[in-house]
Amino acid sequence: MVAIVPDHAPMLPAPLPPDKMPRHVAIIMDGNGRWAKARGLPRAEGHRYGTENLRRILNAAGQMGIQIMTIYAFSTENWGRPPAEVQMLMRILETVIERELLELHQKGVQLRHIGELDGIPARLQRKIRDAMELTQNNDKLILNIAFNYGGRNEIVRAVRHIVEDGVPVDRIDEKLVSRYLYTGDLPDPDLIIRTSGELRLSNFLIWQGAYSELYATPIYWPDFDENALREALLEYGRRKRRFGKTDEQIEREGL
Ligand code: FPP
Repeated sequence: MVAIVPDHAPMLPAPLPPDKMPRHVAIIMDGNGRWAKARGLPRAEGHRYGTENLRRILNAAGQMGIQIMTIYAFSTENWGRPPAEVQMLMRILETVIERELLELHQKGVQLRHIGELDGIPARLQRKIRDAMELTQNNDKLILNIAFNYGGRNEIVRAVRHIVEDGVPVDRIDEKLVSRYLYTGDLPDPDLIIRTSGELRLSNFLIWQGAYSELYATPIYWPDFDENALREALLEYGRRKRRFGKTDEQIEREGL
């Protein structure tokens, strides 16, 4: 599926200078169902095109120099969908791993899963673990697949581990909590994109996204192409990130 740097395709130039590019971009890939409905197609087709689009966007992101991508593929709340659709989403991840893993590996993508492995069918769990092990030393692009992921659940899990580890109360601060999250060794997302016009985080990276720039577009995920990504990055480049400080401080100290 993914050709992060395709052999014969022209490179997509980064739309921003390197020091302005987001290192970590997270995406809520929403609108597959509505995309299909608008075309009189079954929802499965929306997910199929959505999966194809992931290939396109990962390619573009790799070429533009984005280092970390986190995608929301299945939330803890998605278990409430009709069983056939839940099964289909499990199957999609399995197929993506089966068909694309070697190419992803060759292209230097490090695959990571964030979320609860418990609850996912055993065969898929094994595939996810194997894929992570195979690609663990790759460094071209880190791809976090949030699957059976919920932000509140992630925080509860972190608190449990902190207590289990017997961390003294006076050592518990924001840095420590961050380290106990799935993304503990990664920078927070600079930019969170949500497609399909909704204006919610939907339990996605709720701790890590505290200072992320949010970008929403009405485009449904299957139609969110390279140009749409470029637009999102250009908009990000126009934002002033202040992290709670004043403009004057930012100018003086830089950030
Ligand atoms: C939202 O569309 C999308 C999802 C629930 C996730 C599906 C994501 C993909 C198929 C991309 C690749 C997936 C993996 C596992 C790597 P929706 O069904 O919520 O759309 P709607 O809100 O229009 O009904």
